[in-house]
Amino acid sequence: MDTALTGKQILLIIGGGIAAFKSLDLIRRLRDRGAGVMPVLTRAAEEFVTPLSASALAAQKVYRDLFDLTDEAEMGHIELSRAADLVVVAPATADLMAKMAGGHADDLASTLLMATDKRVLIAPAMNVRMWEHPACQRNAATLRGDGVMFAGPVEGAMACGEFGPGRMAEVPEIIDAITSALSNGPLAGQHIVVTSGPTHEPIDPVRYIANRSSGAQGTAIASALAGLGGKVSFITGPAEMPPPGGVHVIPVQTARDMQEAVIQALPADAAVFTAAVADWRVAAQADTKMKKNGNALPDLKLTENPDILAGVAQMTQGRPRLVVGFAAETHDVLDHAAAKRQRKGCDWIVANDVSAGTGIMGGAENEVTLITDAGPEHWPRMEKTAVARQLAQRIADALAT
Ligand code: CTP
Repeated sequence: MDTALTGKQILLIIGGGIAAFKSLDLIRRLRDRGAGVMPVLTRAAEEFVTPLSASALAAQKVYRDLFDLTDEAEMGHIELSRAADLVVVAPATADLMAKMAGGHADDLASTLLMATDKRVLIAPAMNVRMWEHPACQRNAATLRGDGVMFAGPVEGAMACGEFGPGRMAEVPEIIDAITSALSNGPLAGQHIVVTSGPTHEPIDPVRYIANRSSGAQGTAIASALAGLGGKVSFITGPAEMPPPGGVHVIPVQTARDMQEAVIQALPADAAVFTAAVADWRVAAQADTKMKKNGNALPDLKLTENPDILAGVAQMTQGRPRLVVGFAAETHDVLDHAAAKRQRKGCDWIVANDVSAGTGIMGGAENEVTLITDAGPEHWPRMEKTAVARQLAQRIADALAT
């Protein structure tokens, strides 16, 4: 039994979208883990799931209408909004997100969201064009700024036949996010930004420049931080490793996209830069595929990408309290890493030797040296997940002081 969920009350607002059917499974699985679920259906949600099925699965009354006097007599909307340990909106439609961002209170769901004093986690679900629409992205940014936590959306095939981001996160991922939000771990209430994976810098529509990176170490660190109760914004380039559950995933392609996403995700208590950012991009990306031209080689002019870590480490206002960089080196590891820490201005740097023969790049293990103000500290070779847990605990200790 999941201790983080046992005995917890979750106010589950079900929005009107095709993904609403998954919310029934969410109710069932939350109850399996010992949580109580108070379901609230919007009017649109009733087109997709019946109040009876939500009520039967939750073994509770379903709340539907703001002006239902019986409800008001039993439990007013203010009380209802505060009776839960966490408010979850799944699926969160574009319309519900807009209402939340705009502070509307014209039905039961939006009124509860305005009245609550509890943390709110949303699982957006909508068509890819709607999700990518500037209005929706603006609302998402406002909600993030308000401290609303996100589970998904993820990329995938949609009921409407299109493909892309907008699909609701799968139920186990939403449960991970709920578990992390309810965790009383040492990082509860702290926001941590993690960059991970490679970046892809397009040369033309079919070619790109990239560093090697599976994303394994970054994924493990994000997961460990969420496991300690942290709210994690996971900004990842196109990595092999699927992103962890329980974190807010922000997929990006290029270094400049990653930098933009990091800036959008701030403020944060800590930031951990595990991404293998490509140092260069081509100065002028070709719009069409470059063709081979006899023996003449393409004249690719490179330009340097922004240093995301250095930019954040050297912020004069709103800098995270703890900025952690990684240094993947193939020789003179400690010297290069210590110099990098000074040059970039980060608090800690995690140095590792990625030369061929160590098996670290793409492997399951890592052997790192943590360099702080106190000097280098060598950690024995261990699983990347163990490195992640140890580092997450160190971050929690540092933020607690
Ligand atoms: N980093 C970053 N933005 C960049 C380059 C690197 O945020 N444009 C971060 C990485 O995520 C890592 C640290 O800086 O935390 C060091 O990355 P690394 O590739 O080892 O260093 P570089 O700055 O690229 O230096 P060099 O290539 O000279 O070793």
